[in-house]
Amino acid sequence: MIVFKLTFFPKNLQGTGLQRSFPVLNEAINKIANDLNGFPRSFKIADLGCSSGPNTLFLVANIIDMVHDICSENNSQVPQFQVFLNDLFENDFNTVFRSLPAFYTKMREKKGDDCGSCFVYAVPGSFYGRLFPNESIHLFHSSYAVHWLSRVPQGLENNKLNIYMAKTSPTNVFKTYRKQFEKDFTKLLLLRSQEMISGGRMILTIPSRSVADPTSEDCCIIWELLAKSLVDMVKEGLVQESKINSFNIPYYTPYEDEVRDVIQQEGSFSLHSLNGFPLHWEPYNTDTNVSDLPVRGINTAKLIRAVIEPMMANHFGKSIMDLLFKKYQEHVVDHLATKKGVNYSLVISLVKH
Ligand SMILES: C[S@@+](CC[C@H](N)C(=O)[O-])C[C@H]1O[C@@H](n2cnc3c(N)ncnc32)[C@H](O)[C@@H]1O
Repeated sequence: MIVFKLTFFPKNLQGTGLQRSFPVLNEAINKIANDLNGFPRSFKIADLGCSSGPNTLFLVANIIDMVHDICSENNSQVPQFQVFLNDLFENDFNTVFRSLPAFYTKMREKKGDDCGSCFVYAVPGSFYGRLFPNESIHLFHSSYAVHWLSRVPQGLENNKLNIYMAKTSPTNVFKTYRKQFEKDFTKLLLLRSQEMISGGRMILTIPSRSVADPTSEDCCIIWELLAKSLVDMVKEGLVQESKINSFNIPYYTPYEDEVRDVIQQEGSFSLHSLNGFPLHWEPYNTDTNVSDLPVRGINTAKLIRAVIEPMMANHFGKSIMDLLFKKYQEHVVDHLATKKGVNYSLVISLVKH
């Protein structure tokens, strides 16, 4: 059992999912050291879709911990770390950089002065394009990022009054979303395989669905409730129906067989393991105590607002966001009164041939 020593534990959905992936990440790091007869002098790690929140350096701290533990077990020298933080150009990398002095201080306090240097770099750009030189990275990691598609799939005009795949979506909508996912995930695998050393590993944690049915609740209900809130606003004359019909989230929650199929067809990686787990919308508040419902509605609405607000505001206008997420909060409360709010995630562990 690894004890995660360097940083506090982020209390959010992604932080919880990220932590659930750590045993798989630890295994991958162990295998890299094993396969390369020890860590390379400079261990190159890249995090795709790193964002700028507490999880960014939480991940880095834990990777460093894992490597230290392996080195002390093997009585070997700790490598230097080169950590490449990737996200889109508009990501607030400066916030991450501003927290680096405190991070380095903490690292030295915990590990001592000769703890191995850690060099952190920003790599702005889309992970659907090349980011690194050929065969340069030992370990790719990504949590809750590569389910974002490179674009809104084309041909969703008839997904009326929905903003994602939903129970009322016509069948072409599911096919179109799946096709875009297959295309994007294939490209992601191909590009990373070019950038990775042979025997390198990649750990991806993504939201998924527990069953093949793309209308399953653990995949879609969180967005169906948001679409419902928009429809309320159409009835009140605050949103035009055509605005909903022209908005679809560029996101896909694949079933595990869909992930397996793409990995196999693309062919650059072997699938080492694939583990699914349910994840509560509020990982720290999982009981069904009805008196907590208002708080749980607020927490869930906050979480989803943080994820989707910029995209929604861009399409529907900033001025309706407060009211929209107030309505959303109410729909979440109604939903949680009778059902559990649970998503499903996958941790995918890949090794390059
Ligand atoms: C929900 S955040 C996850 C952040 C962090 N990895 C975590 O686990 O908390 C998803 C991040 O992926 C980034 N992202 C989405 N599409 C991307 C792309 N094509 N290339 C690079 N980053 C992308 C977003 O900008 C966002 O910062």
